[in-house]
Amino acid sequence: MSSTYQSLPSPCYVIEEKLLRNNLQLIQQVQQRAGVTVILALKGFASWPAFGIVAEYLSGCSASSLNEARLAREEFGGHVHTYAPAYTEAEFGALLTLSDRLSFNSLSQWHQFSGKVLRSGISAGLRVNPGVNEVETALYNPAFPQSRLGIPREELDALPAGIEGLHVHALCENDADSTQRLIAAVEQKFGHLFDQLKWLNLGGGHLMTRKGYDLDLLIDSLNGLRQRHPHIDVVLEPGSAIAWQTGVLVSTILDLVKRGGKDIAILDTSATAHMPDVLEMPYRPEVRKAGMPGAKPYTYVLGGLTCLAGDVIGEYAFDQPLKTGDQLIFEDMIHYTMVKTTMFNGVQHPALAIEYADGNIEIKREFGYNDYRNRLG
Ligand SMILES: Cc1ncc(COP(=O)(O)O)c(C=O)c1O
Repeated sequence: MSSTYQSLPSPCYVIEEKLLRNNLQLIQQVQQRAGVTVILALKGFASWPAFGIVAEYLSGCSASSLNEARLAREEFGGHVHTYAPAYTEAEFGALLTLSDRLSFNSLSQWHQFSGKVLRSGISAGLRVNPGVNEVETALYNPAFPQSRLGIPREELDALPAGIEGLHVHALCENDADSTQRLIAAVEQKFGHLFDQLKWLNLGGGHLMTRKGYDLDLLIDSLNGLRQRHPHIDVVLEPGSAIAWQTGVLVSTILDLVKRGGKDIAILDTSATAHMPDVLEMPYRPEVRKAGMPGAKPYTYVLGGLTCLAGDVIGEYAFDQPLKTGDQLIFEDMIHYTMVKTTMFNGVQHPALAIEYADGNIEIKREFGYNDYRNRLG
């Protein structure tokens, strides 16, 4: 544990500049070697105090709402590629002023808004469903046959006039072989439209910064696609890969209780409010210096601060008995955390800090009563 975390408010997310830059440098290599553009999917990581670092390597963002498009434009700069499952008339005018490319999820939405898009000069695309099955967790699989996300092949014998791009998103934390199969599926199902395309967005879920990821296979697959279709600008829009393992959630033990023979530590953080994927995905986050239950002498259930019975992070073993006031460090707590937190039960929202490469930590945001109150009336 970094002793510098002792001076932070608790709980607190800490983004580590050095780790973020490592990811971005690797992604930079992919852009250069594969001749593709990689943009940041804000749905996975939108902590704008760190955008200055990200923007040194990436030229834009992918937005999935008016708020994300505005954040991209105002805080990141560069290209904004927007896609949402549906657009509203009320928001569409503003979206047009904030987006460079805009993808539609259905032909009906395209027909509803095509006049405005064509007058605006923005490049329009269609999200299609490539029908691949690369994601085991149903909650995160967008490409099953009945999915509401993406137009099926049957509806697209030809591209409507005015459409310049295709957008697919079918992966989640996948390796390069999934991207290879995704490319093959898109070419097989939608290749008849490629002559008319200016761009192809291969979505997110390419976890290129995970240890063991086959970067050469990704780069070869992308180069193959580009050689077969040199007129098409290929874009990837990962979220997780950018913020993968780039920081922690620092928490503190508030109490230790014994219930039904189990030792339980109650923390000042929460699975449901501060790390919701632990319950949604579900998965077991790593806790620094802890092991599997029984692997070390002292095993505890780690529980959250909300009243939800299932607000439990899991069971972890430690070398020493835990004490009230001890810090626990949850690893890899930057992507899909801050963007999904809630203020359920009014529990204290974690502060947000950046640990710069020189070791200096700056607290960027702390939350208080007014943040809670203002969401509710
Ligand atoms: C359309 C779209 N693009 C990009 C992403 C980012 O995916 P990931 O964070 O898994 O790379 C998502 C995630 O849901 C998405 O829905």
